[in-house]
Amino acid sequence: MLRETKRILVTGALGQIGSELTLELRKIYGAENVIATDIVNKPTVEMSDSGPFAVMDVLSTTSIDNIVSKYKIDTIYHMAVILSAIGEKNPQMAWNVNMNGSINILEAGIKYEMCRIIIPSSIAVWGNGVPLENTPQACCLKPTTMYGVTKVCGELLADYYVQRFGLDVRGLRYPGIISHATLPGGGTTDYAVAIYYEAIDKGKYTCFVNAETRLPMMYMPDAINSTIQLANADFSNLKHHGDYNLSAMSFSVAELAESIKKYIPNFEITYEPDYRQAIADSWPNSIDDSSARKEWGWKHSWDLDAMTKDMLKNLRTRHELGKLYK
Ligand code: SER
Repeated sequence: MLRETKRILVTGALGQIGSELTLELRKIYGAENVIATDIVNKPTVEMSDSGPFAVMDVLSTTSIDNIVSKYKIDTIYHMAVILSAIGEKNPQMAWNVNMNGSINILEAGIKYEMCRIIIPSSIAVWGNGVPLENTPQACCLKPTTMYGVTKVCGELLADYYVQRFGLDVRGLRYPGIISHATLPGGGTTDYAVAIYYEAIDKGKYTCFVNAETRLPMMYMPDAINSTIQLANADFSNLKHHGDYNLSAMSFSVAELAESIKKYIPNFEITYEPDYRQAIADSWPNSIDDSSARKEWGWKHSWDLDAMTKDMLKNLRTRHELGKLYK
């Protein structure tokens, strides 16, 4: 019989996904039961006022032990990660944080007999040679970035800990995540967020990948829902563990710019592709997530135009208050 989650720890809680995930988990499980942690000691007022925040280094087992035992943690959402673009600037750091951080969290899961560990994966697990359209759940994983290498290893580790130790580990392959609350931290898909900020701030944007670049993307409310939904799915229905394909929408940069022009007709876009073009080109255009839909009922809610409208509305409000970049 699976135990129910009572006390949650979120790593990387000040990051793009961690920040919104933490606040949503606090609504569901009670603020005092969701411990936000990050290596950076700069919680927003919203984060520190709404529940416990602690500095925790996922590379230090002592640091993890201290927080997990102090708060009697039984579930971890492990969001601390070095993304693809930053990872290519410092591959050894990406390996160290992503692999040693994940194994430390998995070991804590065993040591403290936790109910569940969530470790996200990414579209970065794929690389050249993969079918680009409707990329299937099971196909060759040959990433070209260190971030992707660590995500493939992370998926394998998740499966290993399930089979070898009976630990309940779950994960999904996030597409590019778009949000207005917290900026992403150094991924290849960051252009799909930056474009909205610059559209509001300057009415124009210079994109670091070309107009035809088409990648799978998701709006943050769908990303949060999918994560919590997978975490709460009946384990016996799950045929996969750490590697669920996940999809919502898919668009080119030109299509994204057109969507913005519906609301800001004078918006201008120019292109100056850099090293991130090759990374984007190695990732799929669209994803087949039928396993997630079948095994735990995944269903997305947001499409491109609805997301654009909501992004621009929220960012415009912040801009008017002089707090676009906070
Ligand atoms: N958003 C991530 C990145 O661009 C992909 O998962 O690195």
